[in-house]
Amino acid sequence: MCGIIGYLGKKQALPILISGLRRMEYRGYDSYGFCVFNKDKEPFIHKKIGKISRSEELSNLTVEGTTGIGHTRWSTTGAVTNENAHPHFDCDKNIFLVHNGIIENYKELKEKLISKGHKFTSETDTEVLCHLVEENYNGSLEEALRKILKDIRGTYGIALMSKKEPQKIVAARLSSPMILGVGQNELLVASDPSAIITHTRQVITLDDNEVAVLKPEDFFILKEKPMVSIDWTPEDAQKKGYEHFMLKEIMEGPETIENAIRGRLIPDEGTVRLGGLDSVRNRLNKINRIVLVACGTAGYASKIGKYMLEEYAGILSEAEIGSEFRYRKPIIDKNTAAVFVSQSGETADTLAGIGELKKKDILTLGITNVVGSTQARETDAGIYTRSGPEIAVASTKVFLGQIATLAMLSVYLGRQRNMSLVMGKRIVSELARVPELAKQILENKEQIKAIAEKYKDFKNFWFIGRKYNFPIALEGALKLKEISYLHAEGGASGELKHGPLALVDENFPTIAVCPSDSVYDKMILGVEEVKVRKGPVLAIATEGNERIKEIVDDVIYIPKTLEMLTPMLSVIPLHLFAYYIAIALDRDVDKPRNLAKSVTVE
Ligand code: M6R
Repeated sequence: MCGIIGYLGKKQALPILISGLRRMEYRGYDSYGFCVFNKDKEPFIHKKIGKISRSEELSNLTVEGTTGIGHTRWSTTGAVTNENAHPHFDCDKNIFLVHNGIIENYKELKEKLISKGHKFTSETDTEVLCHLVEENYNGSLEEALRKILKDIRGTYGIALMSKKEPQKIVAARLSSPMILGVGQNELLVASDPSAIITHTRQVITLDDNEVAVLKPEDFFILKEKPMVSIDWTPEDAQKKGYEHFMLKEIMEGPETIENAIRGRLIPDEGTVRLGGLDSVRNRLNKINRIVLVACGTAGYASKIGKYMLEEYAGILSEAEIGSEFRYRKPIIDKNTAAVFVSQSGETADTLAGIGELKKKDILTLGITNVVGSTQARETDAGIYTRSGPEIAVASTKVFLGQIATLAMLSVYLGRQRNMSLVMGKRIVSELARVPELAKQILENKEQIKAIAEKYKDFKNFWFIGRKYNFPIALEGALKLKEISYLHAEGGASGELKHGPLALVDENFPTIAVCPSDSVYDKMILGVEEVKVRKGPVLAIATEGNERIKEIVDDVIYIPKTLEMLTPMLSVIPLHLFAYYIAIALDRDVDKPRNLAKSVTVE
């Protein structure tokens, strides 16, 4: 995923573009670039590999100009080079364009353009867009763009300018986020609210296939659309004194759970209020199957959701990886609801199934963090996790928000079915306690840091868990590999003896998530199998379990809660463990190599 910003107004564009790109850098950070029309209406272009946040030469750049576009790149087509950085331009350097997404048919388009004499300067798919606009330009940038979009296959968020119309920015999108920011005497366009929030909180979300035209006096979109107000502040997207966004976001775990449940629990009735589902309440009453679709960390939250929904709502449930779901031929009937889970609400593989299912009249629900995201808009109904902006590439706090939301969904659907009042009350009252319990774990972060430092020199890790904590083992391993680049695998503890045990020796530590729950005794069998083979073991155990110290090498304690809610606690030490190991290894924790925050391409 990459980041786009465009500015048109009365202020100097360059500093606005640079600070917007810096705020968006978590979306792509292998190169950056911008184009500003100077006071003589000439383009000033600067494109560079590397991270814009680390670029020192920018402070020496000056250009007087009030219209410009910028881009921070996570490369898909074409290597990381200065030439492949955006903006791209046409043969005559009249048209300047930034693009997020992928143009799938770019090779055939490029061949045709070359045969017509166009000269390319990069290896990117994006550059074909500039030459196509050049071919079709007849005095109106938006008309040329509208024409070429018909010939393009793929996904895009685009912003472009032309030297021939220097007081205009045109933008469009298809399956890639794009918003318009409306400020005092200024208009902005961006792929991410964080890029423009210091200028305006009033935004309009572009829909697929829409083309927006920004001019000094006005803006124009085909459809009349409501303006929405971004409900978080620029400070929410700052580090607030923490060294890294990831640490700040882990520390925000308790308030993230609190925000997810605030105003939604009805303790006396043992149920929850989920306003976003009101419109589909009756349809939900009739469903007998749920398919959860998500990727990465959101996929692990979905696996926990499956266990909760089956055990407490009594509904047959499956958790599917988005990239698999989209290409197999799932059998889904009208008694099924599909629940899409995504922090960004823009993950291409997760989104892929929504349209298809809606065509078949299958009920689609979204659990999303980003208000107005594609997922939020395209599903029939949904629940926001309300976790606030998550900037670090590794998803941490939103994972907690997703689990809390899935727990509420289980109560909501369970109470529509056979869940007793007593059980409903028990879950709801315990859910209200979880933020406080999570705080207690964070108070021990120095102990977790010391343990991480002890384990930092191992090269391979094995994470195990059972039942509700099996997905937590997967999440612990993902987080460690993602930010420390160490090899880590996660799995069900019961699978150890079916193969993975062969790996275990004194150099291969196991992180065992074994709270005192219904599968504790079985977990300990797995831990003992590891210990017998001299494997070091770090256990995540429930406070009061002193005996475990006799079996394992290190223990991190978490407070006791209901088994189904334990994942919100057991994952916190694993997030901190991954963070501190990555810090000890001097990794770029917030922006791990090769990754981007939202994967809006296939
Ligand atoms: O925005 P989404 O929740 O849809 O993102 C899904 C995954 O790309 C994401 O969770 C990814 O696995 C994270 N890097 C994990 O930390």
